[in-house]
Amino acid sequence: MFITLEGIEGSGKTTQMPIIVQFLKSKGHEVVMTREPGATEIGQKIRSILLDPENSTISPLCELLLYAADRAQHLDHIVLPSLEAGKTVLCDRFADATTVYQGAARGIDPLLIKDIHAVVPGNLKPHLTFLFDLDPKTGLARTFDALAHGERGHKESRFERESLDFHHRVRQGYLALARQERDRFVVVDASLSRDEISGNIIAELEKFLFIQHL
Ligand code: TMP
Repeated sequence: MFITLEGIEGSGKTTQMPIIVQFLKSKGHEVVMTREPGATEIGQKIRSILLDPENSTISPLCELLLYAADRAQHLDHIVLPSLEAGKTVLCDRFADATTVYQGAARGIDPLLIKDIHAVVPGNLKPHLTFLFDLDPKTGLARTFDALAHGERGHKESRFERESLDFHHRVRQGYLALARQERDRFVVVDASLSRDEISGNIIAELEKFLFIQHL
């Protein structure tokens, strides 16, 4: 089973990862926790290029192709072998992030993104995607706080420096995807407390696992 988490910066999805892993393990799943970009050794190098604020001159196409390159390596080395071995893969961001960040927010032609997605990730789609929905002002305030307290490195702050408008387009892009694919997406209210969010996610996962077994 392939589960992804998506959302704007500071929406709290990374914090929920271990809680989701623990729950899935309690249900007998062997879980692989991973992320994009940067899950593989080569991906880590690509991540450092993509997120470094010094690389502000990166062209939109270069950015798009680097995310696709990271994904190709990730699929070959982690995601596909894990799924083939019957494991459950829980991934912090996947191809929806490209559709939304490079497409809806950056303005790259969605048809080009579709063509690239036909190659990477090809036919692979998550079975379930949690979208952590939050007002970008709140999300960005949280990430700037994390940057100020050293919980996130300045070397990884290129997207945090984008305009508020950019982040609004990301949020709206995600919500539009969730409306298009209601069967796959679960929209989580990320303004709630950490415990309320975990409770809601676990309730949704219980429902999803129950339906899978029918
Ligand atoms: P994160 O690991 O803290 O979520 O940072 C990853 C950043 O990369 C985040 O700002 C979203 C962005 N991103 C894209 O723009 N396109 C993509 O395809 C992916 C996976 C992430």
